[in-house]
Amino acid sequence: MTATATAPNPLREGLDTQRISDPCTIVFFGASGDLFKRMLLPSIYELRQRGTLPTNFALVGFARSQYDDDGFRAYCKEQLDQFAYGAKPDGAMWDDFAKCIRYVTADFGDTSHFEALKRILEENDRDLKTGGNRLFYLSTPPSVFPGIIDQLQKAGLDPKSNPKGWTRIVVEKPFGTDLASARALQTEVEKVFDEGQVYRIDHYLGKEPVQDIMALRFANVIFEPIWNRNYVQSVQITAAETLGVEGRGGYYDSAGALRDMIQNHVMNLLALVAMEPPATADADAIRNEKFKVFASIQPPALADVPKMAVRGQYDAGLIDGKPVPSYRTEPDVNPKSDTETYAAVKLFVENWRWAGVPFYLRSGKRLARKVSEIAVTFKNIPHRFYGEKTDEIDPNVLVIKIQPDEGVSLRFEAKVPGQKSHIRTVSMDFNYGTGFGVQSPPAYERLIADAMRGDQTLFTRWDAVQRAWEIVTPIQQSWQNATPTFPNYGAGSQGPHGATQLFDDWRTL
Ligand code: BG6
Repeated sequence: MTATATAPNPLREGLDTQRISDPCTIVFFGASGDLFKRMLLPSIYELRQRGTLPTNFALVGFARSQYDDDGFRAYCKEQLDQFAYGAKPDGAMWDDFAKCIRYVTADFGDTSHFEALKRILEENDRDLKTGGNRLFYLSTPPSVFPGIIDQLQKAGLDPKSNPKGWTRIVVEKPFGTDLASARALQTEVEKVFDEGQVYRIDHYLGKEPVQDIMALRFANVIFEPIWNRNYVQSVQITAAETLGVEGRGGYYDSAGALRDMIQNHVMNLLALVAMEPPATADADAIRNEKFKVFASIQPPALADVPKMAVRGQYDAGLIDGKPVPSYRTEPDVNPKSDTETYAAVKLFVENWRWAGVPFYLRSGKRLARKVSEIAVTFKNIPHRFYGEKTDEIDPNVLVIKIQPDEGVSLRFEAKVPGQKSHIRTVSMDFNYGTGFGVQSPPAYERLIADAMRGDQTLFTRWDAVQRAWEIVTPIQQSWQNATPTFPNYGAGSQGPHGATQLFDDWRTL
């Protein structure tokens, strides 16, 4: 992807990349970690090149690794050389950017290190005119979130001690590992920050095709009249990966697919598909509607879990023709692990619009294909007079493609040219790349920029996070209480056979 569009291009008309935030300093806790170097730093650097960062901007890394300011600048340059997806760090652009980078070698439990951070922030306000505005980005393991929040307050870095500017906090997922821990974390967050200052990231919400779900539904008149139980047979939401745990075995083995993907990314997709139209585009108007969807889903009774949830764990197999090991032999994974690498769940949104329509959610690692999509399958036609067998006419399916393809595809029936009245399924496709002549920016770019601008629309609110945990809690409990027969699907396959007990019409990956 190139950094900025220079040549005139009619397809790009109306594309707005220039919403600039207030001056500010962004502090990355955990700046020597993987997320920072692969996603966060490249996103910030790309925002700089697009001209989207404010002129008065500073970045501070705060982590355990030993660096001084120059050492950390060199580290950032090295990482950008490898991971920048636009122009590489070079010339005046880089020199200018490097000047605004500082670093604190830190122990997260040591107040004096947070006081050192405070001094840097004050220097930035004085020298770089960052206006007292601070964005604290927690990209550390979740276990240290409460400690960092506590230290921010002890060092006088909390919002109440900073009347000059705004103070916001960005919290990476997972927000808790279950209902109780999420509530405990929220209690710590609330001691220091108001909800309006908390930005809980779910990077799926920053993906362009995910943002387009609302546009598709509410900027067109043709979908809403049929977007309900009268016309929709089922909704299938898939987030399938070919990757395994990629060096994150330690984290993943204590998480699993339900916590890692379903409770957050996949449930958020469900909310966008099922929500009512908000009255305005205001962040809370939208998030109110999303919350109402979760409030309409009843957490299952423990005894019902086997009928509505299936889990799996991958065995050795082939991905793209290459052998890959079983989950239990991945580094940092317990060789007897019962952690699920695949989860499929059937939920009902029990409200007027969706009563009786099943929502099938599935996510897994080491599956046949990387694909994230939402497939809305419509009901069969009420009467047919073509051909002899009813099943020759397939239902219409609207597929919202999130990745790797980005677009929308509508499957419908058409007459095959010729003398016979023969019907066949065809599709009408929209693709972002060709439709707009531009590649979608990575999710983190949009989300970081929104947090700097103070726009919470694409961030999850506590009530929704809590409700999503409430919905998955009985599944977690039921799975904890029974020993699964793992591994039960081969790497590179469609997932465990058991998933067909839930639904026998899963779309082929
Ligand atoms: C992360 C999960 O939130 O999302 C990972 O922790 C997963 O396990 C990733 O691989 C998937 O994101 P994407 O954007 O590649 O679909």
